[in-house]
Amino acid sequence: MAGKAFGPKGWTPERLASLSGKTYVITGATTGIGYEATRVFLSKGARVVMLNRNGIASAAVIAKMKEEFGDNAEISFIHLDLSMMSSVRLTAAAVMEKVPPIDALICNAAISAVARQEITIDGFESHLGVNYIGHFLLCALLFDQIEQSKGRIVLVGSEGYKMGLKRIQFEDLNFDKNYHPLNTYAHSKLALMMFGYELQRRILTAGKSVQVQVCHPGYSRTDLLKGDNIYRPMKIVTTLVSPIIGQSAEKGSWPIVLCATEQNLKSEALYGPTKRSNFVGPVDQCDLAEHALDPEAATELWSVSERMASANWSP
Ligand SMILES: NC(=O)c1ccc[n+]([C@@H]2O[C@H](COP(=O)([O-])OP(=O)(O)OC[C@H]3O[C@@H](n4cnc5c(N)ncnc54)[C@H](OP(=O)(O)O)[C@@H]3O)[C@@H](O)[C@H]2O)c1
Repeated sequence: MAGKAFGPKGWTPERLASLSGKTYVITGATTGIGYEATRVFLSKGARVVMLNRNGIASAAVIAKMKEEFGDNAEISFIHLDLSMMSSVRLTAAAVMEKVPPIDALICNAAISAVARQEITIDGFESHLGVNYIGHFLLCALLFDQIEQSKGRIVLVGSEGYKMGLKRIQFEDLNFDKNYHPLNTYAHSKLALMMFGYELQRRILTAGKSVQVQVCHPGYSRTDLLKGDNIYRPMKIVTTLVSPIIGQSAEKGSWPIVLCATEQNLKSEALYGPTKRSNFVGPVDQCDLAEHALDPEAATELWSVSERMASANWSP
């Protein structure tokens, strides 16, 4: 059982001191929990750099945040489309040029439950490409800059890692034979989380100064399952059920902020809501299923990811 560090109420933003002078770089902040995490950071005086794929939506977010926190709110946007490795490389170059020391890179953007198999321009099943490989490459390219500032990498996983296959399907990463909208999402989230724990182990071995934390947002009311190409049964269930058993996107963002700011966090740990199947409730350390920590699978995943992202990376 995971130990509880934050008391009966769990972690809340009330624990935050001023974040003035800190810089948080976050993927997918136009909506949902990325948007809400951005609000929390700005409310404490931090600088936020959003890495988003939609320029118009990003401009609207900047306008809204300035309306709420004043014209001096330090929020900006750099274009990133995680479904294209060329875009990830351009984004990383722009971040290295424009962004001061990074206190945390937050890998939050994702797609989910895409009804039919889609293959990215680089040839990857879309959940795996966007949710995992794009973030693997972004972390690889920005790692040295994060290390210079002794910063963190925060990976937004999902309790979905315990659903689906519960393993990486190395023999058919694109699910050509058994595509299922929910299994492929679960697979991509497991890959992201396994990568996080493997990165922790490699950083420890290399004696580097980057802290990696993994969180999940529970079951939060966001836009994740609202698009036109979403698997219909999932869309219907979510519409009916999430108002009853889900929580606000704001609460869903707290595990991100915790992982980006709190001291004395553990390795090989997962932070998120801890009640009712971890859908909602006090935010703290959650139990972590063994398959996410499988070191052999994680080593193989690392090699495969390097090949897919065309990036050799030894932290
Ligand atoms: N909501 C939940 O209950 C839940 C549960 C478990 C895990 N999560 C995780 O929480 C994180 C945030 O999801 P959310 O629920 O807040 O969903 P959301 O409201 O749909 O937000 C997803 C964000 O990802 C961005 N994005 C999607 N594809 C992208 C791409 N190719 N390149 C760059 N950005 C892209 C979206 O941008 P656009 O505005 O351009 O679409 C949006 O900003 C995800 O990692 C998700 O897996 C959520």
